[in-house]
Amino acid sequence: MKLLFLACLSPKTGNYTTAERIRSHIESAGHSCELRDVADFHSPSDLAHLVSQNPPFEGALAIHLFKAGRLLLDLRLPFGVIFGGTDINEDVKDEQKRVVMEQVLRKARFAVAFTEKLKEEAEFVLVSPDSKIYVQPQGIQTEVAEQFCWTEFLRSSEWHSKNLHNILIIIGPKVDPALTAEVETVVKRATGVFLAQERSQQELHAAMKRCYAVVNSSVSEGMSAAILEAMDLRVPVLARNIPGNAAVVKHGVTGLLFSSPQEFVHQSQRLLSDQELRERVVRSGKLYVEEHHSVKQERETYQRLVDKLHKAQFLA
Ligand SMILES: *[C@@H]1O[C@H](CO)[C@@H](O)[C@H](O)[C@H]1NC(C)=O
Repeated sequence: MKLLFLACLSPKTGNYTTAERIRSHIESAGHSCELRDVADFHSPSDLAHLVSQNPPFEGALAIHLFKAGRLLLDLRLPFGVIFGGTDINEDVKDEQKRVVMEQVLRKARFAVAFTEKLKEEAEFVLVSPDSKIYVQPQGIQTEVAEQFCWTEFLRSSEWHSKNLHNILIIIGPKVDPALTAEVETVVKRATGVFLAQERSQQELHAAMKRCYAVVNSSVSEGMSAAILEAMDLRVPVLARNIPGNAAVVKHGVTGLLFSSPQEFVHQSQRLLSDQELRERVVRSGKLYVEEHHSVKQERETYQRLVDKLHKAQFLA
């Protein structure tokens, strides 16, 4: 089956990694699956043009009901959707967007939520006639680059005056210009805090592996693949206590949670001084990821779901 896969594909983001992994699951079942960035399509007619190519696409998949799924509404292709982070946390607050998302959900042959909670929230805010929402957590796979060095950070004079354990490195692509400017200003004033550019996933994993802990201080909701990857790499996690993080980090078991800067320092010190705690957290984190975020299971789910599209094609 020839499938079109629409997603928001800024390079080196979690979305991109997720889309690539799901694409490879689909191709390993013998289908062809073309991944396209929603940013390349300005109207549904741009997409209609692509879809009518020869040989034509026979089905579609989209991550984000609003950003990507809505482009599929007018096409005569059976499709499935995967809930994106902002769908339920942000986009539903806008009534017009919510109505579009409801249409997308109604027309979709299936929808996938990464967590049980997201599924419940989706069913609460969007009318979904039958239960077509499946729960499939993201599969987590880590690979560490062999060659990796910290030169970029060593250049900073702070390095010599600080203990390695006391520095914080913020790493990732500059996605939002306003937020980036704000972060840069704060970092300039802080000592021991460094900004680093995004890098390949293997290099990022190599960097994480060399850290004492991975921190997530996000205040906005979502599901952190970085936290799960840290667990998979056996690196302890310190995360802000918000529902998205608390869903994967059980305090004192799979990681440590904090709600204030003071608590962050306190929990970090605990982690530094209590070797047994560190070992326990690392062990349980690894087990948690293996049990709940298996790539093998993710592959089986998407292959089964794509079979639904395959069958739908003949019923249409
Ligand atoms: C931090 O956690 C939030 C909530 O779970 C998530 O949306 C975000 O992607 C995470 N960021 C990183 C870098 O882990």
